Amino acid sequence: MEFRCTSTPAGSWSGDTLAVGLFSGGGGPLKAVLEARLGAALVERLDHRQFKGKTGESLRLEWLGTTPSVLLLVGLGDPAEFGLDGVRQAAARIAKAAQVQGCTSLGIALPVEGLEPQAAAATIAQAVRLSLFNDQRFKSEAETKPLPASVELLGFPEAAAELLGSGLFSGVDALCSGVELARQLVAAPPNQVTPQALADCAAAIASEFGLELKLLERSDCAALGMGAYLGVAQGSDLPPKFIHLTYRPPGEVRRRVALVGKGLTFDSGGYNLKTAGSQIEMMKYDMGGSAAVLGAARAIGQLQPEGVEVHVIVPACENMISGGAIHPGDILTASNGKTIEVNNTDAEGRLVLADALVYACGLEPDVVVDLATLTGACVIALGHEIAGLWSPSDVLAGALDAAASLGGEQVWRMPLQATYREGLKSGVADLKNTGPRPGGSITGALFLKEFVSPGLAWAHLDIAGTVWSDKGRGLDPAGATGFGVRTLVNWVVAGAPA
Ligand code: BES
Ligand code: MN
Ligand code: ZN
Repeated sequence: MEFRCTSTPAGSWSGDTLAVGLFSGGGGPLKAVLEARLGAALVERLDHRQFKGKTGESLRLEWLGTTPSVLLLVGLGDPAEFGLDGVRQAAARIAKAAQVQGCTSLGIALPVEGLEPQAAAATIAQAVRLSLFNDQRFKSEAETKPLPASVELLGFPEAAAELLGSGLFSGVDALCSGVELARQLVAAPPNQVTPQALADCAAAIASEFGLELKLLERSDCAALGMGAYLGVAQGSDLPPKFIHLTYRPPGEVRRRVALVGKGLTFDSGGYNLKTAGSQIEMMKYDMGGSAAVLGAARAIGQLQPEGVEVHVIVPACENMISGGAIHPGDILTASNGKTIEVNNTDAEGRLVLADALVYACGLEPDVVVDLATLTGACVIALGHEIAGLWSPSDVLAGALDAAASLGGEQVWRMPLQATYREGLKSGVADLKNTGPRPGGSITGALFLKEFVSPGLAWAHLDIAGTVWSDKGRGLDPAGATGFGVRTLVNWVVAGAPA
């Protein structure tokens, strides 16, 4: 798919499929353009098919023997509520409708007048690319329809259309490639995406984009005292791999950030075993945090943003049962010396993150962000469209929220309720890994906070609900969403404010 931005209006574009967004109640400026081009016949057909321009509505009209031969109309709803997100959703719907009918060249006309042209163009291109992603790697006979070879964004202001040349779309390509990598990692089964496979993926990113890779084996982690991480890993036949990738920007380093991703390539629950109905068969996606940070590393490596040094850290392992696995009741010592009573082996994400956060803080970064499919409780609280965000820093929380919105991802800030720390008190150790069920995603975040250097800017994103979409929605096809990549990359590109 080749993207191009042009000042050519919908009224004079010639190509295969012309897609136009119309507002409800009159249609807006683009309706007039269409009328001028297609005349009364169009108005009649819109009336006949009762097209009202409501959000979600779409209509396909064929003109045999002319170019464009197909007109795709999508409803944009109330113009007063239309913004970048409306552009994104409309572009995704257009892309999917155009692909279904085997379109070869697509022209997209959306009312972008009030919006910043660069953001609007990037948003449309991202939406088209990401909504058409179709992973057929595990089918012996792929069911794929060809993508439109060219996609033109129509009606941009002349000056902007020239400015928004290939640079903009290569940025879109970098970001989308990162999201797609994350989706592929999450969607692949646990017999393929093993800790070693995550390490291989990190090595491939390092060599393709010139990042540094440090890979810590079990013995290296033991030497660092990572008893919590290694405790989780010890039940598996597969050795753990602790991954540390570093992106060094060209020129001066103004900020140093660490991105930490939970990398459980399978979570059986350990001896507090997951039962039927607890999604055990889906626990391949328990490495969604690591997929997000590796996808971000890929995008950042390709984009080469200035000023920010980025450390990507993944404690990768499996949570399994065997004669060597940890018992419920075991006491583990993390690399900061804190002792943890494991009252539930299924709360393993916080154990591996404990040592990863200590390691990340040891790099003395300005800010640490972790992403994890940490708790079922977060899914109950916020559902599948919104990730939980915890941070003691208002600036960091606000910056991550802004970065998420810009990319069409949603986060919601949750409290680090200090009194709930009570729930993690242990009679025998410094703390236990599981508190009471109510507020379970909050105690998860409070547990992690115990392993972050006091005063350091830190945020935790619980992506348990957003990592996977059963039916697909908006830009997300059914399955792995690649959630987090857009938020992280947008935040880093903005200079990683915290
Ligand atoms: N990986 C799970 C969390 C999860 C559950 C992600 C469902 C996606 C969907 C995590 O390791 C886990 O098992 N958490 C437990 C914690 C509990 C034992 C305190 C949970 O949420 O039940
Ligand atoms: Mn678990
Ligand atoms: Zn888990």
